[in-house]
Formats: sequence, structure tokens, C-alpha cells
Amino acid sequence: MIHPYDSYRSLFPTLSTHVHLASCSQGALARPVSKAIEEYHAGLLLSGSNWNEAMKKLEETREKFAELIGAEPDEIAVVSSVSHAISAIAASLPYQKGENKIVFTDIDFPTVGHIWLAQETMKDNITLIRSSSGVVHLEQYEKEVTHDTILTCIPHVYYYNGFKQNLKAIADIVHRKGSLLFVDAYQSAGHIPIDVKEMEIDILAAGTRKYMLGIPGIAFLYIKKELAEQLKPRVTGWLGQEKASTFDIYHPVFAAGARRFETGTPSFISVYAAYEALKLLLGVGIHNIESYLQELTQFTLHYGQEKGLHIIGPQSFESRTSLVSFYVEQASEIEGLLKEKNIAVSARQDVIRMAPHFYNTKDELKHAIDELSSLMNGR
Ligand SMILES: Cc1ncc(COP(=O)(O)O)c(C=O)c1O
Repeated sequence: MIHPYDSYRSLFPTLSTHVHLASCSQGALARPVSKAIEEYHAGLLLSGSNWNEAMKKLEETREKFAELIGAEPDEIAVVSSVSHAISAIAASLPYQKGENKIVFTDIDFPTVGHIWLAQETMKDNITLIRSSSGVVHLEQYEKEVTHDTILTCIPHVYYYNGFKQNLKAIADIVHRKGSLLFVDAYQSAGHIPIDVKEMEIDILAAGTRKYMLGIPGIAFLYIKKELAEQLKPRVTGWLGQEKASTFDIYHPVFAAGARRFETGTPSFISVYAAYEALKLLLGVGIHNIESYLQELTQFTLHYGQEKGLHIIGPQSFESRTSLVSFYVEQASEIEGLLKEKNIAVSARQDVIRMAPHFYNTKDELKHAIDELSSLMNGR
């Protein structure tokens, strides 16, 4: 297979010495992203203050993420993490006795459960949808989301096995029941096309350090315009106000749209990194990335099976991403041994996850699978 993005590989220094298959945890750092981090740093170092430039970069970054998911910039808040985004939404939901059921799934990232179970007013009215063989079926949403559900919280992709959900089909079901749909897109944004309008998503959150190729410190929170205007954030602050620059302590007025969910000064250094990373990804094109990754996935599934490895999760492209999980009992120990061979993968519980991006090649996957298989056979 010819690598269509070969010319981009030199942008990622780590690829010259390492096989980087851990984009589900931390994407490889590109030179333009590293340069942007230096630019922020140099601004402070050389001129002492770069507030105006940084605020301008924040707006440009908001626009880039909006473009990535087909939203308006006003529908995006920049927050510090996905956990922050979910907590802020949880604290803003109107409480109505008997009509405040929250539905989430056991394929959500654990932070989702931790947050909903911490909500005093809601914790007794929570429905947890349980997966079978790492998959949640549409019929389960049909059954468990009921007319008293205020919000259904789901991941686009299951971090453990790469299972991808049909967001539009789930949106149709939950909306018919009167529930809002919250999508955690941290494992999809940056390599799977997302169109929040077409998919009818009400709220979506994603951080920048995985497939979005940025660094920790910020995340994006999309809230459909009409909805954002109805929500009253209780996790708030001066940058969530309509006129932060008036410094009026007595008369807070929420900013229009999703901006009202912003709080204080963001991690600008992460904003600079995200801007360049998003520019790079949009330049390559998310549809192009998805179709290249499907080719790599096909290879990984076939070759992994040929080597006798046990693959966890669905096989069809309809319901999976390029994150392929191999069953390995001592996963974190094996992750460490592969790291010693300059192969970066990501262990979770009893699996080794190989998560390529557009910068990876088939040969890299072959090498990683060969090494994994010989480590497993040597035990
Ligand atoms: C699907 C998903 N959601 C949420 C998180 C946690 O994000 P944060 O640390 O930004 O709260 C992760 C992190 O690994 C994740 O994979």
C-alpha cells in the first residue's frame, strides 16, 4: 500500500525513531504545533505580555473547531477538559422533580459515571445502559431512554475497543423521547467526520490531545445555539460574561451562545497548539483521513488474526474505528516492553490498543503486531 500522506511524515519528528500507535491517548506532535507552542512562549519571553494576541488566537481556534464539526463559532466554548465540559453541563441542567432522568452507558469513559453519580439532585434517577460484548445496540436506547429522560450521554467511540456508534440513529431515538443528546467525541474528533447539524447532536465535547494532535489543557464544548441560550451555567466566571472587559462585579450577564460556559483564562499555550493542529488536520481532510485509516484497519484486523492474536470489538467498518484492541492479560507490562522497543501503544485493562493516524504506515503496524505477537509467544 502506498502511503498517501508520506510527505507529512517529516512534520512529526518522533516518527523517525518511534512507531507511534497511541493516538487514542496522545497524538504525535507535529513541528508546526511545536512551533506554535514556542511562539506563545516567545511572546511572553520577549514582550512580557501577549494577552491580545492570545485572545485573538482563541477566537481563531474556536472557528477551526467549529469548522471541524460543522458548527457556528458561537456554539463553541473553550474549556479545560472533557470532564470540565460534562460537569459544567451537569450543573446547568434545570432540575424538575420526576423529569430529570440521566441515561449513560458503561462504554462511556469512567469520568462520565463519576460526574453523574456526584450530582446530588440526579444521582437517584440515573439509568446505566450495559453493553454486551463491548457493544450497545440501538434497541437498548429505544428501551432505556424514556419520556422523563432529560439527557442521554454517549461516547461516539468506545475507548476500549474502537466500537463506533451511529449518532444520527441514536439522536432520532432520544429526541423522539424528548431527551437531549450529549456526545463525548474525544475518541473520534480528528479522524472521523462529524457534522453536528446532520447528526442532530445537541451537545458535544472533545479534548485536543488525542487524534486532534494538540496537548492537554483545553477541550471544546459544542452546544446547539437555541439550547445554549436556555442554559444557566453554574460553573462560570468572568470570561463567560457578555462584557468581561467592563469589570462590573455586580451585574453578571451571560455571554451569548456557548461562550457562557467559559470561566477564566484558558491555557493559551494549549490554544496555540490546537490552532496549528486543527489547521493541519483540516488541510489533510477528515474524510481523507477516515478512508486511509479504513485501509490500515483492514490490514490490522487481517494481519493480527493471521498472527493468532485475539481481537476485541466489532469487525465491520460500519461499527468500528481504526483503534484495534488485542486481548493481552498483562497489558500494561506488555505496553512497557513495547515502549522499550520504541513502539508506543496504549494499554487499558486487558487490552493493548493500536491507534494509528494518517501519519502511520502499514509497515509500522506490521512491525508492532510482529513484536506484540513474539512477546506474547515468548511467555
Ligand atoms: C472518550 C474519553 N472521554 C473523556 C476522556 C477524559 O478527558 P479529560 O481528561 O479531558 O477529562 C477520555 C480520556 O482519555 C476519553 O478517552
